[in-house]
Amino acid sequence: MQSNRVWIAVLLFAIFSLSYPVKAQENKAPEDPASQRAEELLKKLTLDEKLQFILSKYPSNANPGGGVGYIEGVTRLHIPDVNISDSATGSGSATQLSTTFPATIALAASWDRKLSYDYGKEVAIQLRAQGFAMGLGGAANLTREPRGGRSFEYLGEDPILAGELLAQRTQGTQSQKVMASIKHFAGNEQETNRMGGNSQIDERTLRELYLLPFDIAVEQGHPASVMCSYNRLNGDYACENAELLTNILKTQWHYPGQVQSDWGATHSTSKAINAGLDEEEGSDAGPAFFARNPVLYALANHDITMARIDDMVRRKLYAMISSGVMDDPPHGGEKIDFDAARNFAQSVEEQSIVLLKNDNQQLPLPTAKLKRIAVIGSHADAAVMSGGGSGDTIHPVTGSFPGCEGLEFVDHNGCGWWRSPWLKIPVPLMNAIREVTPASEVEFSGVRDEQVPFRAYSPGEIAAAAALACKSDVAIVVVAQPAGEDFGDLKTLRLQNPSNQDELVDAVAAANPHTIVVIESGNPVLMPWKDKVAAIIEAWYPGEAGGRALASVLFGKVNPSGKLPFTFPARNEDTPTWGDSGVISKDPIYSEKLNSGYRWYDAKKIAPLFEFGYGLSYTHFRYSDLTVKRGADHIIQVSFSIKNDGAQAGAEVAQVYLGIDAAGEPPLRLGGWSKIRLEPGEVQQVNISLSPKAQSIWDTSANDWRVIPDSLVYVGASSRDIRLEESAPRPAAKAKKAA
Ligand code: BGC
Repeated sequence: MQSNRVWIAVLLFAIFSLSYPVKAQENKAPEDPASQRAEELLKKLTLDEKLQFILSKYPSNANPGGGVGYIEGVTRLHIPDVNISDSATGSGSATQLSTTFPATIALAASWDRKLSYDYGKEVAIQLRAQGFAMGLGGAANLTREPRGGRSFEYLGEDPILAGELLAQRTQGTQSQKVMASIKHFAGNEQETNRMGGNSQIDERTLRELYLLPFDIAVEQGHPASVMCSYNRLNGDYACENAELLTNILKTQWHYPGQVQSDWGATHSTSKAINAGLDEEEGSDAGPAFFARNPVLYALANHDITMARIDDMVRRKLYAMISSGVMDDPPHGGEKIDFDAARNFAQSVEEQSIVLLKNDNQQLPLPTAKLKRIAVIGSHADAAVMSGGGSGDTIHPVTGSFPGCEGLEFVDHNGCGWWRSPWLKIPVPLMNAIREVTPASEVEFSGVRDEQVPFRAYSPGEIAAAAALACKSDVAIVVVAQPAGEDFGDLKTLRLQNPSNQDELVDAVAAANPHTIVVIESGNPVLMPWKDKVAAIIEAWYPGEAGGRALASVLFGKVNPSGKLPFTFPARNEDTPTWGDSGVISKDPIYSEKLNSGYRWYDAKKIAPLFEFGYGLSYTHFRYSDLTVKRGADHIIQVSFSIKNDGAQAGAEVAQVYLGIDAAGEPPLRLGGWSKIRLEPGEVQQVNISLSPKAQSIWDTSANDWRVIPDSLVYVGASSRDIRLEESAPRPAAKAKKAA
C-alpha cells in the first residue's frame, strides 16, 4: 500500500514536471559571474532537463567520437552536449587517432611544473579537436603500494610533488576550454580488490598524505570535476562518502565544481546524492541509480531534496560556464598536428628519463667511436611498453601488438578486456640509434614474436643476445615491467612478464662490460644485476616518441635531468606494504601512517636501491650560500646558489625538505623544489617559498592544519643527498593556522 502511494506521487510529480519548469530552491546569491549565470540557467530548466545533467550516457551513434560517456545538452537554452573521454596519457578515444604521450609517472620524474601544464594543454588540444569537452585525468593517488597496477598513471609518492604537478596539468587542460576531471578521490592506491576494497586511513595520514594532492590541485588548478573512486574509504564507498565529498571537498575546500563517479562506482541513489555525488557514470552495463525513476522516487519519498538536485545541476552548469565549454563547445572533426604532438611527446620523455647509474662516464656514448652496437630485448626493434587500461590511448598512431599471452599479475592473467601494452612506434630505439650514429652497425637480438609478446626468453635467445653483446662495442639491454588498470597489482618488484629478464641482463653483462640497461616501467624495479652493469636508465613508459628520446639521452644530445618520483627499494621485503608475506590486503589498513614512500625508508633506516628525488646528470652541480628566512604569513623563504661546475649544460632539480619537530612526523618531507637550467660554469640563485601547509601537521583535535614552527630546512639533490641545512627561524608571533 505504502509503496503504491509513493509510486502515484512519483507519477504526479513526473507529469507535473514535464510541463512546467520547477522553481529552483532559493539560494544565497552567488558572487562570481559564472555562478550567477549558472543560477539563471538553472531556473529555466524543467525537472527532466535537470535530470539529464546528473547521469551520463554511453556514447551512441548520435554522439560518436569513441568517448566513454556524454551528457546531453538542452538545445532550447543553447546548452551543448558534453562528450567525455579518458585522457591520462593522451585522448582515450576508441575511434579517433591520438598521440600516446609518455605516462604521467614520467611527467612526475621531470619535476617540471611548466611541462605538466603543457602536457595537460597538448592532451586537451587533441581532446577538443576530437569533440570532447571533458578529459578524465590526471590522477594523483600516491604510490603507497610500490606494486600498484596503476602507479604509471599517477605522479609518485609525495603529495606536494603530485599535487602541484596535477594543478598545473589541470590548468593546462582547462586553458583549451576542456573540463578536467582529477581522480581517483580518494584512498585508491591499489588494484587488488579494486571495486570496493576498504582503505582504512587515519585522519591525520589521510589529510597529510592522500588528500593533500587533491587539496592542492583543487586550490591551484580549479578543476571542473573531481572523480570519486571505486574503493571504500573508512567504511563508506568513496562515491557515497559524505565526509569526503561534502564535508571535506565541498565545504572545507570550498570546491565549486562537480563530483562525478568512476565508471560503475555509484552504489545508491539517496545515499550517494546526499553524500555529495553529482553525476553518475558508466551505468550502461546495468540500471542507473541516478536515472529518472529512482531519483523521482527518492524525491517523492523525501529521501533527497530538490535543493540538492539543483545543487548537482548548478555545479555542472558552473563547470561548463567557467571552463568556457558552455559558450565555445568543441565540435570535433578538426585536424590534429600529429608531428608537432610527437615532438612534444619526445621532449617530455627527454626531460623525464632518469639516469640511475653511470660508471666511468659510460654515457653519453661517443657517436663516432662505436662500430657495432647491440640492442637487446623488449621489442626494442619495434615497440615500447605503455600502460594498459583507461590510462592508455586506445588507438595509437601505429597500433599495438595483438595479444597478452603469457602476461601474469596477482589476480589476472592475460589482458582481459584491454589490448596489449606493447605500443608499436614509428621510430623504435634501434632505428633511432641508427639515425644518431649512421656509421655504426646496429643489430637487434630478442623475441620477435608479436603473437606471444610476453613469453620468457628461450635459452637459445639468451645465448644469441650474449653472443651479439660479446662482438659489440656496447650492449643496450631493454627490460620492461608491464602494468595496467584491471590487470591487478604486480606480484613482485622483480622483473616479470617475461619472467627471465634478469637472466638476460646477467648473460649480456657477463659478455660485455659496457652493458647499459634501459628500464621501461611504471613501478620501481629490483635490480639484482645493478653492480654488474655499467649504466642504468629509467625510461618509464616512454610514449610513441620514446625511441628517439632515449637515443638523444644515450648519445648526449640531451643531458638527463629526471629525478625519481618514488623510491626504488633494494628488496620487496623492505617496502612499507610487504608485511610478512607480501600479500596485498583486500581491505588495506594504512598502518605505516605518515611513513609512506621515502619517509618509510628514512624512518626505518632502510637503505633503498635508489632514493626518492635521485637522478644523475652528465654534469654536476654545487650548492652553497643557504639562507632561510621566515616571512609574513608563515611563509619560509629558502635561498641558495647552484653552480653547474661541469662541462655541459644541464638542469638540476633542487629539492627542499623539512624536518618537522612533531610526534609521528618522518625525518624529512618534501616542502618545495625548483628545476634550474644552467650553462657550464653558470651560477644561479634559487629562491623557494615553503607554504604554511608544507610546514604543518594535521591537528586532529582542532580538525585543522597547525604550523610547526620548529623545523630544519634541508636543501639537496635528492632526499638522501642533502647538501645544505639550517634551522628555520621561529616566527615572531605565536604560530597560526595554515592558510
Ligand atoms: C577508471 C577511470 C576511467 C574510467 C572511464 C575506470 O575504469 O578507473 O580512471 O576514467 O574507467 O574509462
